[in-house]
Amino acid sequence: MNAPNDLRARLSAATDSIRKRDARVPDIAVVLGSGLSPFADTLVDATVIEYPDIAHMPVVTVPGHAGKLVIGKLPNEPDGPVVAALAGRVHFYEGHAMDTVVFPVRMLVSLGAKFVLLTNAAGGIAPTSRPGDLVLISDHLNLQGTNPLIGPNDSALGPRFPDMTRVWDPELRAIAQRAAQSEGSELREGVYAALTGPSYETPAEIRMLRAMGADLVGMSTVPEAIAARHMGARVLGISCVTNLAAGVSATDLSHEEVEHTAKSARDRFTRIVRRTLATLPRT
Ligand code: HPA
Repeated sequence: MNAPNDLRARLSAATDSIRKRDARVPDIAVVLGSGLSPFADTLVDATVIEYPDIAHMPVVTVPGHAGKLVIGKLPNEPDGPVVAALAGRVHFYEGHAMDTVVFPVRMLVSLGAKFVLLTNAAGGIAPTSRPGDLVLISDHLNLQGTNPLIGPNDSALGPRFPDMTRVWDPELRAIAQRAAQSEGSELREGVYAALTGPSYETPAEIRMLRAMGADLVGMSTVPEAIAARHMGARVLGISCVTNLAAGVSATDLSHEEVEHTAKSARDRFTRIVRRTLATLPRT
């Protein structure tokens, strides 16, 4: 187990390697889920830093992609926020320790990001869900059987027992909702259940999750939200429903379907995210 000051040393080495490439302080950190990574390429005035060039950054095991951090601005928003987008996320199911899974988010909050937007591809449990829906995360169920804050706590980063009453910031959700309305759509809100994966759920597990109050299911996001809240960042989450959850849909689940649906929702996702980020409060 790593000592707390070891985490702080790793964070400061990572932020140093980023600052050497781009000294801007990001206002907003964005984590891009499956199929949503191309959002990073829409940033302008951008610096692209490959993960292997950032100290202590974990290796992403998605084939053919090392992962990259893109720091830039939203198009046509020269006075808008500086956005730091992570294209390539590390998952618990890849075999990483939880502190490694949340390291990239901790790094961007350490760099100065006050807001964290977490995005993902998710299975839709709610009977009303449709593939392609974008859903604001209103709360979560941590069903990964562990917690990224287990281990020694560094009180310089955050409290031992952080409050989780309002992880998914209601004010930020209202801003995202207004952004979506101005783009002519409405976002539903839902509870996201995080399981470890990598196997998809069984129909019985989905019935259990529904009984527990989950609307969405996925394999990421919750550890990052916990770590970001631990450090005092404000968190917003958007799930792209890429498929109906097991047993809700008559068909089998596949990663190809997940990526295909995320791709077709991408333009709408990009427009809503852009407008949301442009209208977040500037602190
Ligand atoms: N289950 C878990 N994770 C997912 C799903 C799902 O149905 N779809 C996209 N990520």
